[in-house]
Amino acid sequence: MKIISIESSCDETAAAVVEDGRKVLSNVISSQVEEHKIYGGVVPEIASRRHSENISAVVKKALEDADCTYDSVDAIAVTYAPGLIGALLVGVNFAKGLSFATGKPLIPVHHLRSHIAANYISHPDLEPPFLALVVSGGHSHIINVKSYTEFEIIGRTRDDAAGECLDKAARAMGVPYPGGANLDKLAKDGNASAYKFPHPRIDGSPLDFSFSGLKTSVINIIHNANQKGETINIPDLGASYISAVVGCLTENLMKAAELTGQKKIVVAGGVSANSVLRRELSSLCKKRQLELYMPELSLCGDNAAMVGSQAFYEYQAGHIAKENLNAIASLGIDKNPE
Ligand code: KG4
Ligand code: ZN
Repeated sequence: MKIISIESSCDETAAAVVEDGRKVLSNVISSQVEEHKIYGGVVPEIASRRHSENISAVVKKALEDADCTYDSVDAIAVTYAPGLIGALLVGVNFAKGLSFATGKPLIPVHHLRSHIAANYISHPDLEPPFLALVVSGGHSHIINVKSYTEFEIIGRTRDDAAGECLDKAARAMGVPYPGGANLDKLAKDGNASAYKFPHPRIDGSPLDFSFSGLKTSVINIIHNANQKGETINIPDLGASYISAVVGCLTENLMKAAELTGQKKIVVAGGVSANSVLRRELSSLCKKRQLELYMPELSLCGDNAAMVGSQAFYEYQAGHIAKENLNAIASLGIDKNPE
C-alpha cells in the first residue's frame, strides 16, 4: 500500500511517499529555518503563509521522486494534531482537497505517533509493545506503546518540554535559532561539570519531569555573570546544561523500564537527535541489557516519511478521516481520531 503523506505542523513543509509503512519511496522537506532565524523562533503566521506557498510544489516533488502519480497511490495521510493551528490547517485542507478530488481515503495522523513511527523506518524489525521517550519542542513524554495505535502516557513534563527548555537556554546564551541543535554542536567540546544545575524530581510521580527550574537556573547564571562583568564559557555552560536535561530524561526513562519490565526502548522527536542523549542512552541501555532504538538523524526532526509510516498502521486500525476532519492544536497521543 502506497501512501502520500503531508506534514505541516510547525516550520517544515514536508511530503513523502511510503510503501507499507516501512519503505520510503520519497521524502521531501522544505525548511523555513532561515526565515524564522531572524526572529529567534518560529513565527506562526509566517509558518502558515510559507506552507501555503510551498505545499503544492513539495507534494508534486514527493510524487515525482517516488515515480508515482495520484493514480498509483492508495491513500493520502496528513498530520492533523497537535501543532501550530494555522500551520496544521494548511496541510489538513490541502490533504482534504486531494482526497476529495481523487476519491482516495484520507488518514489523519497524530504528530507524536508519527515521531515514534520514524523508528519503524530506521528499524524494519521494530514492533510494539515497547517503551518510548518522546522529546520534541512541545512535548516530553514517557509512553507505554501497547500497539501501533494504543498509547499510555506514564510520564510527562509538568511545565516546559525538553526541547523548549534547550531552545530557551540557547537563546539566553546568545546561540542562534534553531537553539537546541546549535547548542548541541557548540557544547561538543565543553566541560559538562563546569556549572552545577538542580535535578528536579516530582514527589510521588517518579516518571514526571519538570524543566522550568533548569531554565530559570541558566538564566540566573547568565544574569549574575553579566552583573559581575564576568565572561561565561558558552561551550562549558551549554555542555553542563545539556547534561542536566539529559540526566533528567535518562533517569526517568530507566525508572520506567524498571517499573514496567519493558526491555525495548524507543526514542523519538526532535531532541532524539541530541548527541549527548544518544550517547548516554546507548551506554545505559547496554549496561542494563535493554534494546535501544533511535531514528536515524535525518528522521529525528519533522518530516513526512514518519507520517506515511504511522498512517499505514492507522489505516489498518480503521482510522479514516470523515469529511469534516479538522486540525487540532492540542491533543493527547492516546486519543484516536474521531
Ligand atoms: O520534533 P521536532 O522537530 O518539532 C516538534 O514537534 O516540536 O522537535 C524540535 C525540537 C526543538 O526544540 C529543537 O531544539 C530540538 O528538537 N532539537 C534538538 C536537537 N535537534 C533538534 N535538541 C537537542 N539537540 C539536538 N541536536
Ligand atoms: Zn515534531
